[in-house]
Amino acid sequence: MKKISLLIVFTTLVAGAFFTSCGGGGGADPFAETAPTEAKVLSVEDAFRIIAHENEKTRTLYTKKIVGLGKTAGIGFHEDWEKADVEAGPLPALFLRGTSNEIQKSNVPLGLYLGSDFPIVKANKFTGVQAEKFEAIRETAEPEFFYDEENELYTAMFPDFAGAAPCVSCHNDHPNTSKTDWALGDIMGATTWTYPEDSLTMNETLAMVKVYREGVANTYETFLQEVRAFKEKDVPEITGKWSSEGYVVPAKDFFLEAVNEEVGAETFKEIMAFVDNI
Ligand code: HEC
Repeated sequence: MKKISLLIVFTTLVAGAFFTSCGGGGGADPFAETAPTEAKVLSVEDAFRIIAHENEKTRTLYTKKIVGLGKTAGIGFHEDWEKADVEAGPLPALFLRGTSNEIQKSNVPLGLYLGSDFPIVKANKFTGVQAEKFEAIRETAEPEFFYDEENELYTAMFPDFAGAAPCVSCHNDHPNTSKTDWALGDIMGATTWTYPEDSLTMNETLAMVKVYREGVANTYETFLQEVRAFKEKDVPEITGKWSSEGYVVPAKDFFLEAVNEEVGAETFKEIMAFVDNI
């Protein structure tokens, strides 16, 4: 990475010298042209690894602590949770989709998608180059990084494992499932991430993590709004506790703090490794 950043610093200096010698006429702001460009310090693959790790931890926590404990406490979770007559929270895949939609609303050009070769929902089936790369993931259980020529996007695919019993039972028993023998530990699909640049500045990296976290926070808030509007069911207490404590749903800050405890320090450490301190 040093090479990339040195090259960019060098290019900036040369460009700066050029503008200083030729520019400056017509009342233009001389500083605008010579402003240093922030160095690209992470490859897009480095950034994908950081954000995928953050997402994996968040997804697991949501599945186990919100959906798992919540179901036992009587808080429903359903694929049709957004329908007016369904009083339930989002399934893990739909929590991820909510986060992805929130990211799309931001000005950070990061894409996130969860797919499979044997999906419940047809629109989640990998096609084209992603289907090919997913075959490789099935063989190696390792992520794949590639440039998608068709969509002109740098792309990463990370295996999505059946890490908890409900992943397996719910998918096997689902009326629309295309596979009924999923087992614990299987690769059930992959999370696909896309970004248009091959490298990122420190600020772009932080912006990526920030919009992801905001996406999680806003999706969680939408879930809480749904819960507050329960009519048929009693409205659970929304408070700083897990649902194992009773008919409660964890408050947003409580959940986000738990995510932060789980992965915050690791993400910070991973990012710090790229701080350019020459
Ligand atoms: C209670 C049911 C349920 C549980 C639990 C569940 N899923 Fe799903 N999952 C679904 C449904 C329904 C969809 C389709 C959602 C959609 O796209 O509308 C889905 C979508 C997916 C997809 C995208 C491909 C597809 O099948 O459409 C993957 C991959 C996936 N789930 C993996 C997992 C993993 C891994 C876990 C456990 C961490 C898990 N699921 C837990 C019901 C469940």
